Amino acid sequence: MVLLITHSMALQKALETYIKKNYPTIEIDTVHNDIDGTKKIASDNTYKLILSDWDLDFVNGYELLVNVRNSQKYKDLPFVIITDKRDKESILSCIKASVTAYVMQPIDTEVIDQKIAPLLVKVAPKGTDTQQKQAAAKPIDIPPCPAIIIELYKELKKPTPSFATIIGNIKKDIYVTATLIKLANSPIYGMGKVDTVERALQVLGLKNFNNKILASALHKSIKDSGAATDGFWKHSVATATTCSYIAGKKSPGHVDAAYLVGLFHDCAIPLFLKRHASYEEIVNLSLAGFIEAAAYENKQYQTNHAEMSAFIVKTWGMPHMIYEAIRHHHCRDFKPQVDSSSNPEAKKLWAILVLAEHICHYYGYSSVVPLMPDADFAKVFEKALIELNMDVIDLKDMKEDADTVLKTISDSF
Ligand SMILES: [Fe+2]
Ligand SMILES: [Fe+2]
Repeated sequence: MVLLITHSMALQKALETYIKKNYPTIEIDTVHNDIDGTKKIASDNTYKLILSDWDLDFVNGYELLVNVRNSQKYKDLPFVIITDKRDKESILSCIKASVTAYVMQPIDTEVIDQKIAPLLVKVAPKGTDTQQKQAAAKPIDIPPCPAIIIELYKELKKPTPSFATIIGNIKKDIYVTATLIKLANSPIYGMGKVDTVERALQVLGLKNFNNKILASALHKSIKDSGAATDGFWKHSVATATTCSYIAGKKSPGHVDAAYLVGLFHDCAIPLFLKRHASYEEIVNLSLAGFIEAAAYENKQYQTNHAEMSAFIVKTWGMPHMIYEAIRHHHCRDFKPQVDSSSNPEAKKLWAILVLAEHICHYYGYSSVVPLMPDADFAKVFEKALIELNMDVIDLKDMKEDADTVLKTISDSF
């Protein structure tokens, strides 16, 4: 049984028509204000899903949601809010109250297909309707590892790798060539005019050079496969730059790994955006590193962008420590699933990443959601600061110094 709470005849008609047509075995109980909704919830034990409006006069869907989550009986019940409210505060308050899906009006068949149908599939008796299968959550396509990376690693595995071969392969890829030269010319390296791949190799250094090849090739692949926005790239490059800066201060052996962790920690976001139209509603919260965003994604898509980003870098052959650091970047603590000798390094990279995100957020490289004060960050990510041997005063100093570094990123990509 589905409980529908709305004062809007148009919304009632759209949802009832859709459900009756596509899921004829689902029963619908409809009420037209939140008082009746509250009574129904209190008196009936058969609801498997609540679809609630949130309007100004008749249905306060947010309050209903909070009450439901506070009740023992229905605290885990799927609860969808359908509303005209598009402001971040409303979205965030519902996410914090563990809304299952937040659907913005106007809705049509396509929106119901994407956002509500996956929940209807679960509510309907199994095996009754082939359309249920069509509405199931769609998987994300992982882009293949770029050819240049395969060639690079093939060469590097040889007892005596030939850099002439590596450079030859790089020159076949105009995008990677251009990116390497641009990076070698950036103020971070400060060596003057660089106009060839060979000279870029000298300026960037051998180890750095390989990481930059990897980074630029992955960058292009994600760009081609997903719906990457300018905001996404700005956030990714700023986080990478800040990660390598923090690593330089706190863990000098991990400067390159930290750069990669920062660059690709959110690399699944463009893929989520391309695959799920509904993702646009929370993309800023995800970019800002909100813990609640990953929980929301888990409910909505049965996975989250931290898991998927980690999976992508693992699929492409990046080290375990980078995988684990990225996988944990929306977590308050670092708890790897398997024992590995690289877990201590992964934990360090995780701590660097969450701190870098906080700093980037402060300087406007994340999104438009409200800032988290340093004191709150220090409480939420206490374990990350301990890992870096820092307190809130050190954090403030690090934040101020990072300002200069972040001013250099415009030339990075
Ligand atoms: Fe992020
Ligand atoms: Fe993220």
